[in-house]
Amino acid sequence: MHRAAITGHGVFTPSEIITNDELVTAFNAHADRWNAANAEAIAADDLEAMAHSSTGFIVAASGIEQRHVLDKTGVLDPDVMHPWLRERSDHEPGQMAEMALEACRAALDMAGVAPSEVDCVLCAASNHERAYPAIAVEIQDLLGTGGFGFDMNVACSSATFGIQAATDMIRAGTIRRALVVNPEICSAHLEWRDRDCHFIFGDVCTAVLIERDEGLQTPHFKIKSTRAATQFSNNIRNNDGFLRRTRDQMEDRRDMQFMQEGRRVFKEVLPLVSRHIADHMADEGVSAADLKRLWLHQANKTMNDYIGKKVLGRTPSAQEQPNILQDYANTSSAGSIIAFAQHSDDMAAGDTGLICSFGAGYSVGSVIVERA
Ligand code: COA
Repeated sequence: MHRAAITGHGVFTPSEIITNDELVTAFNAHADRWNAANAEAIAADDLEAMAHSSTGFIVAASGIEQRHVLDKTGVLDPDVMHPWLRERSDHEPGQMAEMALEACRAALDMAGVAPSEVDCVLCAASNHERAYPAIAVEIQDLLGTGGFGFDMNVACSSATFGIQAATDMIRAGTIRRALVVNPEICSAHLEWRDRDCHFIFGDVCTAVLIERDEGLQTPHFKIKSTRAATQFSNNIRNNDGFLRRTRDQMEDRRDMQFMQEGRRVFKEVLPLVSRHIADHMADEGVSAADLKRLWLHQANKTMNDYIGKKVLGRTPSAQEQPNILQDYANTSSAGSIIAFAQHSDDMAAGDTGLICSFGAGYSVGSVIVERA
């Protein structure tokens, strides 16, 4: 069996930012217009008026202060309330492949690896722009990598499940190097007209390069162990899909976008994740005192505070358990990888850290790494 290591990482961050204040202003303007347009039905109790959102609630409930998006003009137009992304012809790069390039190239540059030396591109994300051809194969073509590519989706856990799949292929000797890339266009599946969730998501793309751990010359993270688990739940769900037409259901129905029972997710996922991490660490002989860094999924600050405290048995410092969700919001599978990319360079040789992502499925994935 070979060993694997993370030798490079990259993050593509869209330049457009929506602050909470901008978001709430647009949402409240939309709510006022909708209420005015439906005044009669609301007065007759046939419809419920849309309530206003507030920046204070968003920060207190989630810790999110702003989000990066591919397009803010559509999202902030009270008559549109979704991003506008230019339609691509079949002969130009797709949206996901395009945003993947910058993240992948940064990961390759960091490791000093040429695209031609990569054997596998694994595009692991919550949503895929199309069913086929696989986005990963398009990225492979645009980068000029060798071997093969495939897409996978385990929602918010896609990145860690992707790292596990790539690591296992390297261990088995099937491949020598893999790029695991997570282009997340969360703004396109978020329901911006629902105040319960309109603040949750942002867009980003992350990538990690994983290589066989043999004669590596650059600083890297040894992958000591990976673990993945799933347990079915309907509490985070999206019913859009290719069977829509067969049900004569082409209208813009609420469940075609991201849906969640936030409170239930909170209650059910926290024990699942805490137990998963504790079991993984115990089985690998990693104690709380050994763990120098915890790069968690970035959905909610209260959730992360809770998990950090459970895992370490005390309140972690901001350096030990870095959050990036205040700047990026929830970026689905990419969140823990942004945290890893931004907060790992300072670790000393021999330091142990754990990457963990969790979400719809339910799903939870963890990766124990050691700085080398
Ligand atoms: N502005 C003002 N008030 C709002 C609001 C908004 N944008 N959205 C909801 N509220 C109100 C609710 O209507 C509710 O009012 P009520 O008490 O009168 O019924 C109150 O605020 C509390 O709402 P609730 O949904 O219970 O808030 P919460 O504290 O659970 O926070 C989430 C909501 C979504 C931030 C939180 O549940 C969460 O993070 N859950 C897990 C999410 C997650 O990890 N999902 C994975 C996605 S991949």
